[in-house]
Amino acid sequence: MKFETVSVIGLGYIGLPTAAILASRGLKVIGVDVDEHAVNTINRGGIHIVEPDLDIIVRAAVTTGNFRAVTSPEPADAFMVAVPTPFKENKEPDLSYIKAAAETIAPVLSAGNLVILESTSPVGATEKLADWLALFRPDLSFPQQVGDKADILIAHCPERVLPGYVLQELVSNDRVIGGLSPASSAAAVELYETFVKGDCLITNSRTAELAKLTENSFRDVNIAFANELSMISDKLKINVWELIRLANRHPRVNILNPGPGVGGHCIAVDPWFIVSSAPEEARLIRQARETNDSKPQHVIDQVVQAADQFKKPVVAFLGLAFKADIDDLRESPAMQIVEQLVKADIGQMIVVEPNIEALPSSLADNNVEFSTLESALEKANVVVVLVDHQEFKRADRIHFSAKVVIDTRGVLQ
Ligand SMILES: NC(=O)c1ccc[n+]([C@@H]2O[C@H](COP(=O)([O-])OP(=O)(O)OC[C@H]3O[C@@H](n4cnc5c(N)ncnc54)[C@H](O)[C@@H]3O)[C@@H](O)[C@H]2O)c1
Repeated sequence: MKFETVSVIGLGYIGLPTAAILASRGLKVIGVDVDEHAVNTINRGGIHIVEPDLDIIVRAAVTTGNFRAVTSPEPADAFMVAVPTPFKENKEPDLSYIKAAAETIAPVLSAGNLVILESTSPVGATEKLADWLALFRPDLSFPQQVGDKADILIAHCPERVLPGYVLQELVSNDRVIGGLSPASSAAAVELYETFVKGDCLITNSRTAELAKLTENSFRDVNIAFANELSMISDKLKINVWELIRLANRHPRVNILNPGPGVGGHCIAVDPWFIVSSAPEEARLIRQARETNDSKPQHVIDQVVQAADQFKKPVVAFLGLAFKADIDDLRESPAMQIVEQLVKADIGQMIVVEPNIEALPSSLADNNVEFSTLESALEKANVVVVLVDHQEFKRADRIHFSAKVVIDTRGVLQ
């Protein structure tokens, strides 16, 4: 099978770098997104998301004519679907974006096409995608009907890149490829080998789906263990950072660092897809989610208690992003903590976040001051470290000495 034209459906944090890398390897890439602003920005050679060096590779791909963006799909040899897979209010997976993508690519499919689901998905989602495509295109045959003889090849290939390192990891990471038929897996490997230097590991679609969810659940369960230790240590007046440092000197122990909670749109979401598929069995995975989700409230209680010691509390919060050295505030436990404390009216609140230009309106409109680190440390009597940004790690410890410090990330250890 030879791929000349590839269509990437969904040009966000995953789809856009993937499309640009494919184009940089000489393939003709048609990017599809329902967001007109994103499509127009890309066609001008710009980007609408933040990722190091992505602007350079997108501009080059658009300038060479190998990459263009459109709002509705056109025929191609392969389709890679990278649309969102959030959960609904009841924590059940929301597959409506995948279904909408299936509905829009179905009319342009033709025999010999490969369809790859890259979105992080609950077990069975790739089979559902195949069923939707079959429903919309009864004139074509699909792997779930006739196996290797099918007109259309379908595989799941979950993405596991780390934001901030996407362009390196897209190329260097191993890929798990789960075809609905052996021919589907083989075709998907051929496509990924055009840009992946890591190994392409073949399995079936359900195992590939669970593999991705397992990776993020593994992280979540291990972080929950660290967060639970931090809450136990707070109760028993033990320094959790010293505790973990000592325990990790055991040759077979490697405890992760606790934090103010788990944020982002992967680790805090994906474990729920396992819980919803196997609620009776996934007890540890559910508990880990609940433990991590309870950590922000624990920090809030600590801050309220600390502020109570002062007549005129001035509380400085260091960091708002969901992890170190990025500007992404979405699903951030630090944001959740500060927003909740605004409502609790604990005194004067100051936020330091070196990676953003201005405070979000939920804070700015409620008299939260946006400040530099020096000025915040000068004014505050309580300091809450919420993110382990470089700027905070480098700060002189002397400025913290006369304060009540709640260090949720161990930055001052
Ligand atoms: N961001 C990450 O670090 C990361 C890492 C691994 C896996 N994933 C997974 O990859 C998938 C995509 O995530 P993302 O971070 O790129 O999301 P995103 O929100 O950044 O991008 C998704 C894009 O899809 C577009 N879209 C929505 N419906 C569409 C449709 N019907 N047709 C065309 N475009 C449509 C949106 O407008 C948006 O631009 C998710 O399943 C996510 O869990 C993300």
